[in-house]
Amino acid sequence: MLPTIVLLSASLALAAAKSNPYMLYGVPKGPSIDIDEMENMTSLDVVSAAVDNSTRPSKTSQPPKTTSIPTMSDIPGLAEPCAAVSSAVKAVPSGNRKVIPAELAVKCLQSVPLDQKGNMQLIDDLKLYLEWQSNIAFLKNPPADYTEQPLDLMREMDSMKKQLAANGFNSEYDFQSELNKLFTRAYDNHLAWQPDILAGVMQFQRPAGTELVSVSSDGSQLPEIYAYRDLELAKNNTSFEPSPVRTINGVGVEEYLQTVAIQADFHDADTRWNALFPSQALIASGVNFLGSFRTGIYQGPNTTMAFANGTAKSTMNVAVVLGNFTGVIDGSTFFHKFCSGPAVTTAASSTAFNATNTTVPTQNPIPSHVGYPKAVLIHPNLSLGGYWINDTGYDDVAVMSMPSYESPDVQLYQNIMRDFIRMSVRAGKTKMIFDLRGNGGGNAILGYDSFKQVFPQADQDPFGGTRFRANDALNVVGQMTRDFNANKTFVQSNSMAFKEAFGQLTMNDISLFTSGFSFQHQLDIDNKALGSWEQMFGPETVNSDKFTTTLRYNFTDEVSYTYPGFSVIGFLKNANETRTPQPFKAHDIVMLHDGMCSSTCTIVSELLKNQGGVRTLAVGGQPKAGPMQGIGGTKGAQSFSYDDVQTRTQIVYFLGSPEQQAQWNQTSLGRTAFAEQIFKRTAYSGDRPAGGINLKDNLRRDDPSKTPLEFIYEAADCRMFYTAPMINDVTMVWKGVVDRMFRNGTSQCVQGSTGDKSSVSGGGQTKAGSVPPPSKAGVDEFQGVGRKWDVSGLGWAVVAAVVGLVVCL
Ligand SMILES: *[C@@H]1O[C@H](CO)[C@@H](O)[C@H](O)[C@H]1NC(C)=O
Ligand SMILES: *[C@@H]1O[C@H](CO)[C@@H](O)[C@H](O)[C@H]1NC(C)=O
Ligand SMILES: *[C@@H]1O[C@H](CO)[C@@H](O)[C@H](O)[C@H]1NC(C)=O
Ligand SMILES: *[C@@H]1O[C@H](CO)[C@@H](O)[C@H](O)[C@H]1NC(C)=O
Ligand SMILES: *[C@@H]1O[C@H](CO)[C@@H](O)[C@H](O)[C@H]1NC(C)=O
Ligand SMILES: *[C@@H]1O[C@H](CO)[C@@H](O)[C@H](O)[C@H]1NC(C)=O
Ligand SMILES: *[C@@H]1O[C@H](CO)[C@@H](O)[C@H](O)[C@H]1NC(C)=O
Ligand SMILES: *[C@@H]1O[C@H](CO)[C@@H](O)[C@H](O)[C@H]1NC(C)=O
Ligand SMILES: *[C@@H]1O[C@H](CO)[C@@H](O)[C@H](O)[C@H]1NC(C)=O
Ligand SMILES: *[C@@H]1O[C@H](CO)[C@@H](O)[C@H](O)[C@H]1NC(C)=O
Ligand SMILES: *[C@@H]1O[C@H](CO)[C@@H](O)[C@H](O)[C@H]1NC(C)=O
Ligand SMILES: *[C@@H]1O[C@H](CO)[C@@H](O)[C@H](O)[C@H]1NC(C)=O
Repeated sequence: MLPTIVLLSASLALAAAKSNPYMLYGVPKGPSIDIDEMENMTSLDVVSAAVDNSTRPSKTSQPPKTTSIPTMSDIPGLAEPCAAVSSAVKAVPSGNRKVIPAELAVKCLQSVPLDQKGNMQLIDDLKLYLEWQSNIAFLKNPPADYTEQPLDLMREMDSMKKQLAANGFNSEYDFQSELNKLFTRAYDNHLAWQPDILAGVMQFQRPAGTELVSVSSDGSQLPEIYAYRDLELAKNNTSFEPSPVRTINGVGVEEYLQTVAIQADFHDADTRWNALFPSQALIASGVNFLGSFRTGIYQGPNTTMAFANGTAKSTMNVAVVLGNFTGVIDGSTFFHKFCSGPAVTTAASSTAFNATNTTVPTQNPIPSHVGYPKAVLIHPNLSLGGYWINDTGYDDVAVMSMPSYESPDVQLYQNIMRDFIRMSVRAGKTKMIFDLRGNGGGNAILGYDSFKQVFPQADQDPFGGTRFRANDALNVVGQMTRDFNANKTFVQSNSMAFKEAFGQLTMNDISLFTSGFSFQHQLDIDNKALGSWEQMFGPETVNSDKFTTTLRYNFTDEVSYTYPGFSVIGFLKNANETRTPQPFKAHDIVMLHDGMCSSTCTIVSELLKNQGGVRTLAVGGQPKAGPMQGIGGTKGAQSFSYDDVQTRTQIVYFLGSPEQQAQWNQTSLGRTAFAEQIFKRTAYSGDRPAGGINLKDNLRRDDPSKTPLEFIYEAADCRMFYTAPMINDVTMVWKGVVDRMFRNGTSQCVQGSTGDKSSVSGGGQTKAGSVPPPSKAGVDEFQGVGRKWDVSGLGWAVVAAVVGLVVCL
């Protein structure tokens, strides 16, 4: 039986390659936190008193808690922790953030009963959607130089299903935590499962002031861990000498931090280490990324740090309550309230809009450019800024700070970048640093464009080869897209049927949604037209899995790259720019990476390295010598959230005749289109499900092994640790890059970090990926359990943002 109400949550169709917006690097997005906001301890005392009241009804005279930290062990006879949360939340004075002790929050979550049957269905649904995850075969059977453990996602989900059937989980929280951890172990930040119970109701935090930082005395000595705020204090007060952290909760600081770092979904341990700490680049761009040490999963009731000088400091861990606890009195009422899906849209409400003026709503904290010099040019959303270092010895250097590729107006991004490059050349700047720290991606087209900005000549044709995993539902989507473009689908010959199926969606909307699957708008690996869907689909067998043929964008076809009106440098209305002289020599350009570069950021990085020969300096990483990879984020070329997949499969389903639909009901196309449990149990970010898959692999030019780029190990050409002055002043970071990369200073690089054979200077870009070993079918490799932007103004590009369709079947 198909559901009678289908939510066709239409999304936008532009190629977006960005790390998931609902997560910050393995850390679910919570309420925006201001780095200077201290928890209101007065209000926390009131909360604690209320918790005591609701959990100790027998005692009448409770001495008021003043400064001590309440712990749950103080609370015997605690019957219903979720009831305690309800009364605690009620007690929070209005206007204060709803903050409760972390231990109480986790007890409430643990009291939510397991939905055994629902979770078995959920696993079935997730497996349908994982058919679209491009790299599952490589995760299962990675090449030898992949640094992480292999992971057989499908098999592990099967074993979780068996464990469910055998009553092997204690609570809903335990099950979803395991499932979430499983996804994290794929270390692909386009791939995510964010269930309601973990991401939607409460968010765990260590209190403000617990942020840490890893700094070295001179940039090459091994770093030590300090309190982030101590460095700020020391800046103002030279007599204060910060003391390094030695232990956290009684465990050696490095060992403890490694246990926290693994919750970030980067495929590189040095990147996961950097992700523990606040990001200078992100904070400056208005994303308060305070690090996975400060915000993430439940990490115990309190945090006790001991410093080298003998001082110890202890604080209580907290949870910020996001959900409305009215009526929640125990785990069952919690489940009913928070884990049964969003309210079903019953009325067709089409909010078609003119997307030239639309941005994805985000609640950005106020950006802090403290420590940044005055920009020469800056994008209004702070995703891009151009700087000159005017100091003696550095006055030939320009810095393009690019913490993000998200620009509601891609034309503006291109213009600012082009103008800054021209101004810099005119001002006699001969060196260029691309500071890509923290860049989690955005509009995919800007990745190709940034490469062309510095390599405008005609023979620098961006390769950008991508491919889909050739799954069965994709095959139907491609065939129906072909038929639709030929005006041959059932609904095109029957306007009543069209209206019934699509309501207010138009033919143009459908072309827009399906253009990525249209063989007429993709080119093959040699930039030649594809003759048919069959030629596009293949499939080609690589690493025992099936893939489409390698695809490239046609940069003279706006439909192909999905940004109407926008021309990449060197193409269409920017065709004459192939005559612009290359503004900087390849050796005079350097990328600055901290590992967090993901998606679109990795598109430009690959082109700059592989086609441009541009070197990289990586900053930070674990306190040990040796090379570091510049990139630890997903190198996938396009992400799809779960509803992006749902929308495409539903559109295709409704294009079909009743006979076709009856057939698809039995296949993955129909089952994918109408899977319900996955949308019932996911957390939402605004109207959109907070999770998705990597849709397309990005491949290296001339790589016969056809290895997705994230499985190719690539060391940076030099590595540098942060110093204390760098934490407070970004210009010190940039000068550190100049000293090592443009002067004769590789001796200042971290010991052993230069000349790696995988780096650009080590000749790494002349080599392709390595072929994974043949997979050992049946051999147990068990490791332990473990977007979307505005569509602008061509006539064809008006699209429904969120369309709730009523469909009677
Ligand atoms: C903290 O909360 C108390 C109780 O609501 C309030 O009186 C006080 O002004 C708050 N303090 C701050 C700094 O917000
Ligand atoms: C706790 O209970 C006492 C006695 O019943 C009452 O006076 C007090 O207001 C309660 N406190 C809170 C925060 O509910
Ligand atoms: C340091 O001094 C500056 C300017 O005097 C001030 O704005 C800032 O708040 C001080 N920072 C700290 C951590 O005291
Ligand atoms: C020890 O170091 C910590 C961290 O820098 C600092 O907060 C504390 O005040 C120092 N203690 C003493 C006694 O100096
Ligand atoms: C922190 O939590 C641990 C474990 O519950 C407890 O033993 C310790 O006393 C707590 N420390 C403080 C300062 O509350
Ligand atoms: C919480 O939910 C209740 C009903 O369940 C509603 O009356 C109340 O307005 C909600 N509170 C907020 C702040 O939305
Ligand atoms: C965009 O502009 C159009 C026309 O100016 C307006 O009708 C529409 O509401 C706007 N959309 C948004 C999301 O602001
Ligand atoms: C460097 O000089 C330019 C031009 O005078 C100015 O716009 C820019 O803000 C200066 N940069 C710094 C960091 O002072
Ligand atoms: C598509 O075909 C139908 C008949 O099957 C015809 O009425 C319609 O005009 C055609 N549309 C286009 C755009 O050619
Ligand atoms: C690329 O697209 C343009 C515009 O649609 C088209 O003229 C050209 O033939 C396409 N290139 C190839 C190789 O098909
Ligand atoms: C390209 O053409 C535009 C006008 O169409 C002109 O402004 C620009 O200077 C030209 N660029 C080059 C490199 O010739
Ligand atoms: C969209 O809005 C822009 C500016 O608000 C306007 O110039 C353009 O004509 C509109 N496009 C459509 C298709 O309505």
